[in-house]
Amino acid sequence: MMVFTAVQSDHHPDGLELPLKSIGCLVSLVFHLWNTVAYDNTQDPSWLLHFKEIKQMSRNPVITEPPNLPCQVKSHKEKPLEKMKQSLKDKTIVVTGAATGIGLALSRLLVSHGARLIGVGHSIARCEEASRLLLEAADNSRFVILPSELSLMSNVRDLSTKIRQHLNDCGTGKLDALVLNAAAVPFRQIRTIEGMDTQWTVNYLSGFLLSHLLIPELANAGNARLISVSSDSHYNMHMRWQNLQFDGFYHPLLAYKQSKLAQVMFTAEFNRRMKGATGITALVSDPGLVRTDIGFKGNSIWMDIFWKWRSRHGRTTESAAEDILFLLEDNDVLQSGHIYWKYRQPKMPNRIALDENQGRRLRDISTQLAGLAVKDSSL
Ligand SMILES: NC(=O)c1ccc[n+]([C@@H]2O[C@H](COP(=O)([O-])OP(=O)(O)OC[C@H]3O[C@@H](n4cnc5c(N)ncnc54)[C@H](OP(=O)(O)O)[C@@H]3O)[C@@H](O)[C@H]2O)c1
Repeated sequence: MMVFTAVQSDHHPDGLELPLKSIGCLVSLVFHLWNTVAYDNTQDPSWLLHFKEIKQMSRNPVITEPPNLPCQVKSHKEKPLEKMKQSLKDKTIVVTGAATGIGLALSRLLVSHGARLIGVGHSIARCEEASRLLLEAADNSRFVILPSELSLMSNVRDLSTKIRQHLNDCGTGKLDALVLNAAAVPFRQIRTIEGMDTQWTVNYLSGFLLSHLLIPELANAGNARLISVSSDSHYNMHMRWQNLQFDGFYHPLLAYKQSKLAQVMFTAEFNRRMKGATGITALVSDPGLVRTDIGFKGNSIWMDIFWKWRSRHGRTTESAAEDILFLLEDNDVLQSGHIYWKYRQPKMPNRIALDENQGRRLRDISTQLAGLAVKDSSL
């Protein structure tokens, strides 16, 4: 069930005139830019903080290098369509953020390739619209769209129960892949009733929790894939360990960049800890710039203008979805040792994401924040 009342937001009073609002937004934008360049809420200039943390990291980095790039993996465009269809047929795949943008394009591809889809949407209206579109590609026994507010960890737990129920109803009890694609970029900070930052929870922590809760079902599949849709925004960023959720200082794009870095770190750490024991391979898909509405949902006129300008040269959602499909069906990818993929080619991620010490640190913090007990992952 949707929980629209679960988040709190500090809206401007409705009575403000448009020019006043615009000045307010401009001041706020300048303030955010200033904060980015000059100050952090720790009172350290951010460049100094960045320097300190990078220096700290470089004292003891334990970095597992991926094999030399590039590697020989066939692009799925070179593969016969029939072969691809066969490899996805009857696979059960969960996609979050399935009702719009890249997630919807991927969902359409999956059901038209004969996969069984459990889509996770957000707004009920968009879920209904997505179901209507999916019905054009497959009958409704092949898919379900479950609405869920992923900013709340309690909802993520309910969602995992519903997914498990659904898998048992299908009689398989196994999940072949989980695609963590949902994300939001609110312009102003939104604190959830669980006291966390919405970007942090939707973009990263909900995926961390959902994957751990579904490990038994993923492990049942034998060779499952866990794909996080991240972004090249994760480059030129580090984890702000003193203030991961931007308390008292919030910058929408920095919060986004950090959440995307956290996804890549999580992927590397998951493989180190879980791949051997469960057979689950975690991968990252970087879709590049894609023409979607993500930048129009932040409730800011400035972000709308910026995104309209920025996304005009973006690729289609279909081509971005095809890249994810490639990671879902290609077997060479699993053997390649590479975790970060862009345009169906491996790429070196931000080196911070490969640092074992930082990966473990993030895992420990996330385990605590998500309220994940050892029994939850059943391993
Ligand atoms: N577009 C790009 O250029 C680009 C570039 C790099 C990476 N990416 C990544 O690609 C992924 C998909 O983004 P997109 O561009 O396709 O944008 P999108 O259409 O806005 O997709 C994001 C999805 O996440 C859902 N979502 C947002 N807040 C949620 C919440 N609180 N609970 C549950 N679901 C929530 C949205 O549902 P509602 O719309 O109903 O809120 C939407 O379906 C994201 O991870 C994004 O970071 C995009």
